Amino acid sequence: MAKERVLTGITTTGTPHLGNYVGAIRPAIQASHSDSVDSFFFLADYHALIKCQDPALVRQSSKEIAATWLALGLDPDEAVFYRQSDIPQITELTWVLCCNAAKGLMNRAHAYKAAVQANLESGDDPDFAVTMGLFSYPVLMAADILMFNANKIPVGKDQIQHVEMARDIAQRFNHNFADVFTLPEAVVGDDSAVLQGLDGRKMSKSYNNTIPLFDTEKKLRKSINKIKTNLLEPGEPKDPDDSTVFQLWTAFASPRETERMRADFVNGIAWGEAKKQLFELINAELSDARLRYNQLMEDPAHIESVLQKGAERARIHSAALMKKVREAVGISSIG
Ligand code: TRP
Repeated sequence: MAKERVLTGITTTGTPHLGNYVGAIRPAIQASHSDSVDSFFFLADYHALIKCQDPALVRQSSKEIAATWLALGLDPDEAVFYRQSDIPQITELTWVLCCNAAKGLMNRAHAYKAAVQANLESGDDPDFAVTMGLFSYPVLMAADILMFNANKIPVGKDQIQHVEMARDIAQRFNHNFADVFTLPEAVVGDDSAVLQGLDGRKMSKSYNNTIPLFDTEKKLRKSINKIKTNLLEPGEPKDPDDSTVFQLWTAFASPRETERMRADFVNGIAWGEAKKQLFELINAELSDARLRYNQLMEDPAHIESVLQKGAERARIHSAALMKKVREAVGISSIG
């Protein structure tokens, strides 16, 4: 049986946090070790430009995200690990797909619609601050996906629509020209993988409620101490299902440890004690990786060479696919 090809991109605009780890990075790396999948992971740095015009931040984030994945055990000989901007065929394909994607389809994209809606609400021109990059974002993402004939695309809920658009665009191209593209499908983790942040809402950079993945031990402890709880005293029963501390616990603990903590909640464990145990649990899972992360961050040349090797492997696929695409649309040598 052919291997399943799993592909996902990470926009390089922030520092990875525990929510990214539990919801995306940890499951992706685990899956990449399986013999039945072929994994493609990349730094979506051209996507970063859509929402970030700060070059230093894009650069720093690319370095941090690459170091994070490597520190957490991604094996770059196993998975193809690369930077989007090192694959020139992705932007070439973006143009060809732009000429096939319906504008009306892009009009319906959530990110663009939300921007227009916000403008209308504030009485601005509907297109105020809307760039062509934001508008065409789903086409670039379609090129990322279709370039490598990926079958399964692990994404957050907010990205499902984009994967469906990639599928639409592929179908249309295959119908109009030649059967070049594999039709991709989104794979969404279950809700329990969506971690709560310090304030109990979804952990997200946009809510400013994150716990960074590789801060120092001291800062990790401090962040955990900041998680919002209620005023119940030690000895008073606490509801595990209404607690961010418990939710984080379940994301790191074995089922047995989870049942034990559930009982401790019901028996009135003190918040301070629960947080202390939570810190120890999370720290135990992350401390070796933190060391490797710090070493990698000190050795950017090594990270760069890993990415270059990954790009070479990726370009074998992208060059072959782009050749097919060009031929299909009539761009080829004349003689
Ligand atoms: N747009 C995605 C996000 O912000 C990142 C991304 C870019 C991506 N290209 C992709 C994800 C291709 C999956 C496949 O999360």
